[in-house]
Amino acid sequence: MNEPIKHSIRERFTVLIFDNKQSGSAYLSTIICELINQNNQWDKHTCLGLATGSSPILFYAALVKEYKSQNVSFENVYSFNLDEYYPIQNNSPESYHHFMNEHLFDHVDMPSDNIYIPDGELPSDKVEEGCQKFENRIKALGGLDVQILGIGRNGHIGFNEPGSSIETTTRLVEIHETTRRDAGGAFGNLENVPHQALTMGVQTILSAKSIFLMAWGSGKAEIIKKAIEDNITPEVPASYLKNHNNVTYLLDQAAAAELNI
Ligand code: GLP
Repeated sequence: MNEPIKHSIRERFTVLIFDNKQSGSAYLSTIICELINQNNQWDKHTCLGLATGSSPILFYAALVKEYKSQNVSFENVYSFNLDEYYPIQNNSPESYHHFMNEHLFDHVDMPSDNIYIPDGELPSDKVEEGCQKFENRIKALGGLDVQILGIGRNGHIGFNEPGSSIETTTRLVEIHETTRRDAGGAFGNLENVPHQALTMGVQTILSAKSIFLMAWGSGKAEIIKKAIEDNITPEVPASYLKNHNNVTYLLDQAAAAELNI
């Protein structure tokens, strides 16, 4: 595998630029498998914060390949997904539950009891309690070792849309119209896209010990530049990642094209 071009813009975060998303995804999968294997050696569990969307698909494929080659086991891994539409049936093809089963959980040995995804089936009077339980479970397991992220074209992370505060935790939110339009394809048309979602908050994400954000393709170049080079602002929630001391951005050449590095 070609080594990525590495830029440490400041000491607090790293930008890795790959020839293509295949090599970036394989690289991230190697890092995550090493972490899991290291923790397994010490009899420690691993807590992964996972993401959906098109960006992590090849990363999950690479993890599945490592599992099938017997290079890693997920028996002692816990996973917490960033978000889920609300309301939605878990078994509906557009749900993030379905996405995660299809791309990862159906193919590896992670115990189903170790899998946490915000529950789009909760009745509205149980949503707050459900979000609190989700947060409590992360804390009870010692926090997220890693949070995997994609980025929305408007700078959202999870479903923390522009305007989200840095103090937010897991909660019910309104989905931005740009984001709903971007999801229109998956739902057949815009009208079918839910207006709300459950998402980990910015604070939840920032509490992870390390964060990896993947962005591929020219469609992400402008927002990547804003998130990395401009000042921190609630208008670009991904810019909050600058408050964290262990963030790695994995980009292909097209997504990195507008960076001044
Ligand atoms: C959705 C998800 C985000 C994801 C984003 C980007 O809105 N809620 O977590 O990062 O889409 O998606 P993609 O990777 O398909 O560009």
